Parts: sequence; C-alpha cells; structure tokens
Amino acid sequence: MLLRKESTASLQKANFSLCINTLLDGGVVALPTETVYGLACLALDPDAVAKVYRLKGRPSSNPLIVHVPNLEQAMEISYPDTICKLLCRKFWPGPLTLIIPKKNVVPDNVTAGLETVAIRSPSHPLFRKVLQSTGKPLAAPSANPYSTVSPTSAEEVVNSFGNTCPPVLDGGKCEIGLESTVLDLTCETPAILRPGPISRTDVEKVIGRKLADPTETFKSGISRKSPGLSAKHYAPETPLRLYPNIKLLLKHAPSSSENLIIIPSKEFLPSLDSCSATVMTFSENGDSMEIGRNLYSTLKKADLSKKKTIHLPMLEETDGMSEAINDRLRRASCS
Ligand code: TXA
Ligand code: MG
Repeated sequence: MLLRKESTASLQKANFSLCINTLLDGGVVALPTETVYGLACLALDPDAVAKVYRLKGRPSSNPLIVHVPNLEQAMEISYPDTICKLLCRKFWPGPLTLIIPKKNVVPDNVTAGLETVAIRSPSHPLFRKVLQSTGKPLAAPSANPYSTVSPTSAEEVVNSFGNTCPPVLDGGKCEIGLESTVLDLTCETPAILRPGPISRTDVEKVIGRKLADPTETFKSGISRKSPGLSAKHYAPETPLRLYPNIKLLLKHAPSSSENLIIIPSKEFLPSLDSCSATVMTFSENGDSMEIGRNLYSTLKKADLSKKKTIHLPMLEETDGMSEAINDRLRRASCS
C-alpha cells in the first residue's frame, strides 16, 4: 500500500516513480483528477485495460475515458473536428469529456467496441505530471467499485478497494468533486450525455448553437449511445429517498432516530431542531460548487452511519453545477 499518513508532499515524492513504473509495466494506479479519483492504465494496452475492468467489476459494455495532456495527443488517437478543437481550446485542461470518432490504435475494450472514444484532458497537476512522464494516453474510469459512489480523496479510494487497492497517488481532496461533463459530438446536434461542471450554456456559448434537448437525448436511446449512463449509479448502500425540494423534505421526512437527513446548507438546521433523526449538511451556505465538492464524501459518511434510510432534497437548479448534482442524486436514489 502506497498511501501513508504522511504529509502530502512526501507522499507524492515517495509514490510518484513507483506509479509511473507500474503504469509503464501495464499495471493500474489510482490518480487524482480535479473531478474525482481515477483508476488509470495505459489506454493503448488492452491487457492493462482489462485489469481496470476486472478491478472495478465493471461490465465490458461500459467504455472508458481516455485522458490526454493536450489536443496534439488527442489527435494521435481520434479525429477531432472543428467544433471539438474549439471546445478543447476553451475548456481544456478541465472537466469536459468529448465523444468523437476513434482511430484504430485505440483497443476495442477501451471503447466497449464502439467506433467512438471519450477524450478528456484533466487539470489536476499530479495527473498532468503523470501524463507528461509516461508520454502516453491513460484510460481511467472513476476509482470506485462499479456503480458505487465515486471517491474524492485518496483515503476513499483505499477504503473502497481494501486489500485489492492499487497504488494511490495522493493529490488531496478533489477540487470539483463531481465527474466531468460528457458531450457527444458524433450526432448531428451535439448532446450532453452526462451533465457536469461545464454547463450546457457554457458549451452553447462557445459553439454558437443549441445542444440537443436533454429529454430528446434520453428518448433517442441514451443507453445505446452511452452504456454507462442509464442505470442506477453513484449509489450508497443505504436506501436513499429523494424529495423534489427542501420544503417537502422538511415537511415529510420522518424524524425518528433510524433516519438520516441531509440538507443543502446550515440555514435549514433550525427547522430540524426538534427532530431525532441524524442531520448532515452538504455545505455552509448552499453554494452549488461547495455542495458538489462535498456531495460524495457526505454520502459516504452517511452510509457509514448504517441508518435505515437517507432522506435528502433535489436542489433548485440555478446553474450547471446544481443540474449535475441533481442528475447524480436521481441516479443514486434510483432502485
Ligand atoms: O471526471 C471524470 O470523467 C472521471 C475522471 C477520472 O476523469 N472519470 C469518469 O469515468 O467519470 P467513468 O468511467 O466513471 O465515466 C465515464 C462515462 C461512462 O458512463 C461511459 O459510459 C461514458 O463516459 N463513455 C465513455 N466512452 C464513451 C463513448 N465512446 N460513447 C459514449 N459514452 C462513453
Ligand atoms: Mg464512474
């Protein structure tokens, strides 16, 4: 186990070369990104990729994102068009994943047999340093066992894999805490397959046209286009009851002690004064960036308390981040 309770600086020094060697030998390591931790391997090595699927327990029908340092390396493995290049220049490095046609060098198991590949350039300095040192594209799904909550710290990666945990490079708590936006550029009208930190309006402003209507995207068979995005996902073990808004939660959530209630901000604490349920908060003041950053770690903590049910509200959708958070909450509560 490479994760040690030392200062982050010494941890990085101790781990870095071993991580690079492990990757270059066809192994798997967990790396920090600005969104969530990823389980990385050489993207162009099908045996290494198979190890990632095995370790994660992920169905082979669910493709991986390939991480690159820049557009130049993306062009070695895929065919970006003008719109794609525009988006890369604007949002990379950062939390935007683009689905575009792949080149033959990309093994079939990375893309689950699809003719497209998901590409992204992460901004976390440690991940970038690893990309630079290996000089090769890295496939990396989120570093959690299949369908569970994504990890936003090195400790969470270690806790979720236990004895089977690969080497973890500790880059601290993820700054964003929610997975990248996935944008499909292979259909006539580009479509968001997974809402994330880069919002619909952010993208529309850059490309100068409207993206596909989200309800149409779902109707048109999202599960076929993006195999990993349809089913229940990001779910804690404890059943999760989602309320349409905070008002309805405060009115209807059971107050008995076998329940746990999570509220978006501390401002609602006084309304729960007389409640015997355990209460947790996602943020100090309801800022959606802060809620996003704390979302998964709070769900994990809530899970550990082994209550009968976790009750929580959808957020008011004031920006792209709250839309992405609601997407994750919906899928986490899906049975
Ligand atoms: O922020 C992130 O995107 C993190 C960090 C580690 O980069 N990664 C991540 O990967 O969330 P993963 O594997 O947990 O989610 C990637 C999603 C999956 O739901 C998958 O179905 C979709 O992207 N995807 C990958 N390749 C695709 C493709 N060729 N076509 C459509 N969807 C694709
Ligand atoms: Mg994932």
